Amino acid sequence: MVIRFSSVLFVYAMTIPGLCATFNSGDIEEGYGDSVNQEDHVGSQEHKHNKHWTSCGRNSMCQCREKYARCLNHGHDLDYIPSFKRTIDKLNFTGNYLPEINNNTFENITKFRMKYLGIESCSLQSCSSNAFTKLDRLDKLIISHENISISELMKCLSSVTKGLFSLGLRNLNLNPLPPDFFSPMQDSKMLKLNMDDTNMGEYNQRVFKPLKHLRDIFVSRSNIHTIILEYSPKIEWLSLTYNKIVEFPKFCVMGSSLFPKLSALILDHNFIRHINRGQLNCLTSLTNLSMTDNPIVSFESNLFSDLPALQYLFFEYNSAGAIQVQPYAFNSSSLRQLYFSNNKILFDGYRLSLNAFKYCKQLQTLFVSTNILTSTTDEMFDDLFSTLKNLKTLSLGNTRITFVPQVISKHMKDLETLYLDNNHITGFQDGVFSSLRSLKRLDLSSNQISVINQNSFSREWMNTLQWIDLSYNSFACSCELLWFINFLKSEKLPKLFKNDKYYTCNSPKELMGKQIVKSPISEHDCSFSRLVLISMTYFSVALILVLLTVSGIYRFRWRLRYMFYMARFHHKRYQNRLNGHQQYQHDIYLSCEDNDFDFILDDIVPKLERDMGLRLYIPLRDGQGNKIESIITNMDASRKVILCLSDNYARDRYCEFEASLAYDKYITERRDLMIVIVLRELGALNVTKTFHKILNVDNYIKWDWDDEGIELFWLKLTQTVRNLDDMIP
Ligand SMILES: *[C@@H]1O[C@H](CO)[C@@H](O)[C@H](O)[C@H]1NC(C)=O
Ligand SMILES: *[C@@H]1O[C@H](CO)[C@@H](O)[C@H](O)[C@H]1NC(C)=O
Ligand SMILES: *[C@@H]1O[C@H](CO)[C@@H](O)[C@H](O)[C@H]1NC(C)=O
Ligand SMILES: *[C@@H]1O[C@H](CO)[C@@H](O)[C@H](O)[C@H]1NC(C)=O
Ligand SMILES: *[C@@H]1O[C@H](CO)[C@@H](O)[C@H](O)[C@H]1NC(C)=O
Ligand SMILES: *[C@@H]1O[C@H](CO)[C@@H](O)[C@H](O)[C@H]1NC(C)=O
Repeated sequence: MVIRFSSVLFVYAMTIPGLCATFNSGDIEEGYGDSVNQEDHVGSQEHKHNKHWTSCGRNSMCQCREKYARCLNHGHDLDYIPSFKRTIDKLNFTGNYLPEINNNTFENITKFRMKYLGIESCSLQSCSSNAFTKLDRLDKLIISHENISISELMKCLSSVTKGLFSLGLRNLNLNPLPPDFFSPMQDSKMLKLNMDDTNMGEYNQRVFKPLKHLRDIFVSRSNIHTIILEYSPKIEWLSLTYNKIVEFPKFCVMGSSLFPKLSALILDHNFIRHINRGQLNCLTSLTNLSMTDNPIVSFESNLFSDLPALQYLFFEYNSAGAIQVQPYAFNSSSLRQLYFSNNKILFDGYRLSLNAFKYCKQLQTLFVSTNILTSTTDEMFDDLFSTLKNLKTLSLGNTRITFVPQVISKHMKDLETLYLDNNHITGFQDGVFSSLRSLKRLDLSSNQISVINQNSFSREWMNTLQWIDLSYNSFACSCELLWFINFLKSEKLPKLFKNDKYYTCNSPKELMGKQIVKSPISEHDCSFSRLVLISMTYFSVALILVLLTVSGIYRFRWRLRYMFYMARFHHKRYQNRLNGHQQYQHDIYLSCEDNDFDFILDDIVPKLERDMGLRLYIPLRDGQGNKIESIITNMDASRKVILCLSDNYARDRYCEFEASLAYDKYITERRDLMIVIVLRELGALNVTKTFHKILNVDNYIKWDWDDEGIELFWLKLTQTVRNLDDMIP
């Protein structure tokens, strides 16, 4: 029992139809003292109890341990019940020869207080009607694997004590089962009946009527295709697994239940296609409903919402091709555990409504593993599961998901066990699991996670964890994994990392398949490469800074030079200005560009110098020494500055500097010193901020190429030049 139970909880992925149902076995030995149960697992249990089987019975044909005796497989050599020590109260008599049982058969154990008797494969043919009278303390009897006729079997039962608690009639041919089969046991106090493998065909509740106290009925693998029920107020457990049932049994008649106390109904491995609310709503005591491996086509809304006691639902391995799950299908105020694995349903809001799991406030365990959640987005996960705030166990194993849904860390604060195994998860956000304070067990095995580092899980959280499974992932055995490798080697924490034998490298190629703790990554190599990495990082940052600075200097080189010279000359110029009426060395500073110079030299310079007698300073002609310095000195020494604007001029950096300087003097000295001549209209791209400001200052003089224009130009120019009143009005 223990092993089967844990197999459901922990190795559900390996369960196959037949092993998955939790409570379909009806083990008749249950509750019968440890020794009987251990029988089935002798090997593993023996050392634990440190009690060994010892030979007993005549000719040592049997084995005894504590109160339990078994005599196995002696065929015709053992054709009587031997005598044992007096303390024996349980006997398993299997594979021997006992064709007839009569009032003498149990002579040797009559004085014993026999509680349990199992007769199995003993070629039983007949019984006398007083065969079991002497075993008046018996509370559990099993007759199994016998080719006995139904009438002889009824004779056997007729002398069985009324105090019997549990009866197993298994692997017998009981077809057709007469309606009065149990009438010899009238008034029996029997609670449990197991009739597995009896080829019964029809399950008729009337047959069990003489057993007035009967509570639990198990009839598995008995070809049951028809079920006829009648009022049975004592039945609490009905298990009819592996039969041929096609219709849900009719428990509800006119709104009331034929089985008012029915608590567990197990119909696994049958052929039931339809269930509806009307068939269920009378089962007010039902706590467990299991219908694993049935071809159920549809789960209607509020299918279970009328069952106030319902706690466990098992609907796995659904064999219908296309299942429809309506909104609120699992609406239940009491449901605790829902097993909905292996149904191959697409969780896309279409076949299965995204509201299917709404209104299950009490739900603590949800298994939806081995369904198809490939196209389920984070938002859809939110819709599906955000109301399940009390979940303690969730399995999304083998659902083809590629990420850890946010709904888990956002809404499932009480989660204790989480299965995300057998998916395509490549990584997860640092600390996403550590935020689940109650999480104790985490299965991430068989995914594609490549790196675990010290930020993946918080230390504090790992201290409260029971286990985490990261086996069969695609670890990248590089320095990034070094921390994890060292952590695994350190053994400071108890064996937290489950199946670490199977934590293997997926890359680089030459380490593929190697256990990560055995991969040859060393602290030394990694710290060296880390050093290199750090130096490289610093170097790159420095290089980038240098490049930025250089390009900045280059871009603003004129501005910087300007600022530099201004600062240098500031004092000198200030002194000059303080001296009051400046002695101007030049009347005009002529600023123009190389390519325009010829034209200016030919036309403008002679007129100004020769005809008007003005002292011109032309940097191209008169300039020498440091260019910038001479620009500043000479412009300071000139009364007026002529700027000959053109596209060439605008593109020349020295010219731009001269223009800036002139504008600066215009602003700071408040002197109307600029004479702006536009030789050719500037292209839009060349009108920089400086030129824009200059052109806005005053009326500039435009050079025109026709005679009238030229005359106007000279008129304006001579007027401006002669205007001695420099100051800005
Ligand atoms: C009682 O046991 C003895 C051997 O111990 C055996 O010879 C005899 O047949 C048994 N009696 C019955 C009634 O089976
Ligand atoms: C067995 O039953 C028969 C009658 O059915 C009786 O004559 C006989 O004495 C009984 N034997 C014992 C050992 O009780
Ligand atoms: C008797 O023992 C065998 C072997 O341990 C076991 O398989 C069988 O189920 C037991 N039968 C009964 C009826 O107890
Ligand atoms: C069972 O018994 C019937 C007659 O009683 C016989 O015909 C049949 O072959 C037996 N079957 C087995 C498997 O022993
Ligand atoms: C219902 O199922 C659970 C889980 O398998 C089990 O522990 C419990 O005993 C069952 N309860 C009843 C009343 O069948
Ligand atoms: C859920 O079930 C309860 C009880 O049957 C019912 O009152 C409620 O309306 C149902 N919720 C929805 C959304 O159908």
